[in-house]
Amino acid sequence: MNRQEELQKKIIKKFESAVLGQKRLVFGEGAQAPQLMMIGEAPGGEEEKLGRPFVGKAGKNLSSFLEVIGLRREEIYISNVVKLRPTKESPKTGKAVNRPPSGEEIAFFLPFLMEEIQIISPKVIVTLGNVPLKAVWGEKSITIGDVHGRPYPLTEERFLFPLYHPAAVIYNRALAETYQEDLQSLKKFLYEQ
Ligand code: URA
Repeated sequence: MNRQEELQKKIIKKFESAVLGQKRLVFGEGAQAPQLMMIGEAPGGEEEKLGRPFVGKAGKNLSSFLEVIGLRREEIYISNVVKLRPTKESPKTGKAVNRPPSGEEIAFFLPFLMEEIQIISPKVIVTLGNVPLKAVWGEKSITIGDVHGRPYPLTEERFLFPLYHPAAVIYNRALAETYQEDLQSLKKFLYEQ
C-alpha cells in the first residue's frame, strides 16, 4: 500500500465513525510529484456518481482551463478540500441539490488535505475559489478578490497560486476577463519554474 492509499484508508476509517452521513467519498487523483496540484471546493453530483473529482460540467471547465495553460489532465493532480458532496434538500423538488461545504465539513477534511499535499508534493498549488484558498493559506480572513492571479511562496520549494473558482466566472461574467488574465499569468509562472 502506498502513502496515498494509506491516507485514503485513514480517511475512510475516520469518516465511517463521524457524523457526516453515509456519503460516497471522492478522493484526489492524478500524477504523483507533479508540477501542479489543483484544489477545488467539494465534489458535485456527477463527481459523486463517478467517484472522481472534476468530471461532468466541472470537468469540461477544467479541460478548457488546462488547454489555456498548456497541460494535460494526466500531468497534474486534482483534489478537493471536502471529499464528500455537500447537499441540501431542494424545497421545490425534494431532491438533493449542492450547497457550499459547512465549517464542520471543512474542519473534518482539512488535516487530510494537508497530508495529501505532503504526499503529492507539488511545486505549485492552484486553489479554485475561497474555500481551498482559506484552507491552504491557513487564514480565514483572506479572500480571493485580494490575492488571485499571483504566486505566493508556501515553503522554499512550493508556491500557492490562487484562482477564482470557474463556477464563479460562469455566474459573474464580469470576472471572465480577469480569469483569463490570471490563467495567462499562471501559464507564464509555470513556464518559468
Ligand atoms: N467539482 C469538483 O470536484 N470540485 C469543485 O470544486 C467543483 C466541481
